[in-house]
This record gives sequence, structure tokens and C-alpha cells, in this order.
Amino acid sequence: MTKDNELNVLVVGSGGREHTLVKSCIASPMVKRVIAAPGNGGIAQDCACFSTSPEDIPGLVALAQSEQIDFVIVGPEVPLSLGLVDELEKYNIVAFGPKADGARLEASKIFTKELLLKYKIPTGAATPFDQVEPALNYLQTAAFPIVIKADGLAAGKGVIIAASLREAEEAIRSIMETRTFGDSGSQILIEECLAGEETSFHLVVSGRDFVILPTSQDHKRIGDNDTGPNTGGMGAYSPAELVDEDLLQIITETIAKPSVEAIADEGIDFRGVLYIGLMVTKDGPKVIEFNTRFGDPETQVLLPRLATDPVKLMHSAATGVLSSINLAAKPGYALCIVLASQGYPLSYPKGETVTITAPPGPNEFIFHAGTKQEEDGSILTNGGRVFGITALASSLEEAAQKAYALAEKVSFPSKYLRSDIGAKQLKRIS
Ligand code: AMP
Ligand code: GLY
Repeated sequence: MTKDNELNVLVVGSGGREHTLVKSCIASPMVKRVIAAPGNGGIAQDCACFSTSPEDIPGLVALAQSEQIDFVIVGPEVPLSLGLVDELEKYNIVAFGPKADGARLEASKIFTKELLLKYKIPTGAATPFDQVEPALNYLQTAAFPIVIKADGLAAGKGVIIAASLREAEEAIRSIMETRTFGDSGSQILIEECLAGEETSFHLVVSGRDFVILPTSQDHKRIGDNDTGPNTGGMGAYSPAELVDEDLLQIITETIAKPSVEAIADEGIDFRGVLYIGLMVTKDGPKVIEFNTRFGDPETQVLLPRLATDPVKLMHSAATGVLSSINLAAKPGYALCIVLASQGYPLSYPKGETVTITAPPGPNEFIFHAGTKQEEDGSILTNGGRVFGITALASSLEEAAQKAYALAEKVSFPSKYLRSDIGAKQLKRIS
């Protein structure tokens, strides 16, 4: 039996979220050794990386066994929905992240909508369809804008907000006939468009126990002032003052608690992150979606703000002792700016040389996402979102100044970033 302070940890994934998780492992007194699969250029500078794909479930189980891993932290949703945690359990390897039944809360929007409606948890009205014609007919009496969602996983791209009947018809045909998102589009959900401000709410859940992580806000659109297409997220900050004490109370009582109870009542032993995407409407907060893993780039602001060891938090959830955790956050603010490759979220170049002219200072972090390390140690771009630049400070303004100053020190030819991360909140408090 491994002692809790001698864990060999495997982090699965290759993004900025996973680099943040690896850094938390390195800083944790509980961790003896950390490895990653497949990792990225920055993770490779911090620990050993193995080329096993996050979709190769038998390969990951074999890696965990051969490297004598005691604890697996699963970053992305795909291995969760493919049942990685179910397989690891067969070999008594503890893992943070839900089994396939819990991962369905992200992998099927229809499953989640039905659960929310069954347990009367506030959410937008929606109707599922598995055939094109009835979906098109439904639009004839619908109000616009309207939201068309592919049921399954689509790397954050399966949601189309259609402004008109024509756009909605195109969206339905593209999802269900052209199969733009593959089999994820065999079923769709047509959903009421909610108006308001979005916020993300992260819970660490273990059965019926949960702790609420600090509040945060993402910036989903590619362009300044929330313009252009949706992305995985272009920047984040924490705390999000949109969620004041009163709203926090309302979200906890009407959404967080009933959701955790509903999931347990459905017989799902959920151990991992329940990330609740919320729209704060004039009628109160409503659930837009569930994710069953940490947000990216939210992780890059949430974990640096924790005073509690993130590994202790995750291991306690995975082993069913979450109620022993008294979560503490550091005072102050964190802000993360994503550096992307020009052209993201569509097509973008890869293989560009990265230059970092100054190391991060205290309370500053350069988290790698789409990067790879060459044999000579140089770093090349290797994805749409390339870095997450985070700074902690006593005010949001100072965190933004520090993060933007550090972002200037990281260069590659097609570097693109939003210039307004945190601006909405800065306006609200000024
Ligand atoms: P999802 O993949 O469900 O997170 O959706 C992606 C984005 O689409 C969300 O972050 C929202 O900005 C938007 N969205 C999804 N559902 C709705 C809705 N019912 N009303 C308005 N916006 C939505
Ligand atoms: N930042 C949005 C997500 O992780 O889904």
C-alpha cells in the first residue's frame, strides 16, 4: 500500500490545463514522481513524457502499470468518456475523473438536458431530434436566435447559435447530414437561446460530497469584445465578481447541490470535476452545459489560486474522503491570457520557433499548450492554443498588467492574443 506522500502520478493530456496539473504535482508534498502522456513541450521540460495517446485506453493502463503509477489525473474529456477510469479501477489504480457513466454528462447533451429537466434544475427549454425533417419542421414555429447543438463531443465546436431560420436550417443539415462533427451529430438538441453573462463554476465532486472551487470567467470568442467564432477559451480570470455572495448562494442551492444529488440519485459515483457552464439571465442562473473535467484555460487561474494542495484535493475526491478537505484559496486575483496561432479556431500554422526572452517572475507562470520540444531543447508551436500566460496579484488590474507584460516576452511569428482579458470585470469595478 502506497503512503499518501509517495505517490507516483500520471497526468493524461497535452494542453495548458495539463501543464498546470503537472506543475501542481511537482509542487505537492504528496508526489514522489510525475509523468505525463502525451504531454507537450513545456511538460517535457518538467517531467518525463510518454507518447501514449489519450484515446489509447489499453496503452494508458499498460503505461500506468509499467511505471508503477498510484494515481492518474485525467485532464481531457475523451479518455473519460472512453472509460479510462473504469479500466484503471479494474487494476486498483486510483484516478481523478469520472467513469464513463459520469463522463456522459459531458459526452451527451441530451442525457444532461433530460437529467436537468427531471430534477427541475434551472436550464433552457430544449427538444431532442434524431432525424432531420422533424427538426426542420420544428424551426417553422421557433423564435430566433436559437441554439443548435450536436449531442456528442465535438471539441467545443458542436454548438451553433443561429440568428435566422436559414442559419438554423443550415446548422441542422451540416450537423446531421454533412456530419461536420462526425457521429456526435447523429442526434441534436434545439435549445432556447439564453441571454445574459456567462460564468463557469467548478465543483470537485466525490459521490454526494463536493467543494466549490473559486469562481472564474472564461473568454470564449476569438476576438476582442467577444466577437468572432467560439474557441476553447482565449483567457480567464478568477475570482469572477459577477458571482457575488448572493448569486453564489443561489447557484449553490438551486444548481450545484441539486445537480450533485441528481447525479448520485441516478446511481453515478462521480469522482472528479463537475464544471457547470452557467448563463446568468434576468430570471436567475441557468445551466448551459456540464463538463466533467477542469476547464481550459480556467485551470490556469484556478489551481495557482489554491492554498490547499490541488493533489490532496483531487486524491481525496478520488478516494472518497473529500469531506476532510477544507478548501482555502489565496487572496487576490489570477488572470490568464491565451497565446494562440493566427487562424485558430480554423486553420493555423504549426512548427514555428518560439522565443522566450525572460523567465516568469514570482507569481507568474508560462503554461505550455500546443508546443513541442525538439531534441536540441528548442520549442516549436504545435497547436491552435500555444501558451497560457498567468499572473497572480492583489488586484485584477495588476494581474492583467503583469500577464500582458509577460505575454510580450513570449514570441512566435503567428502569435495572436486578445487584448481585453479581464476588461469586462475591470469596467464593472471601476
Ligand atoms: P457548450 O459547448 O454547450 O459550452 O456551448 C458553447 C457556447 O455556446 C457556450 O459557452 C455559450 O456561449 C453558447 N451557448 C450554449 N448554449 C446556449 C444557450 N442555450 N443560449 C445561449 N448561448 C448558449
Ligand atoms: N474553457 C472552456 C472549457 O474548458 O470547456
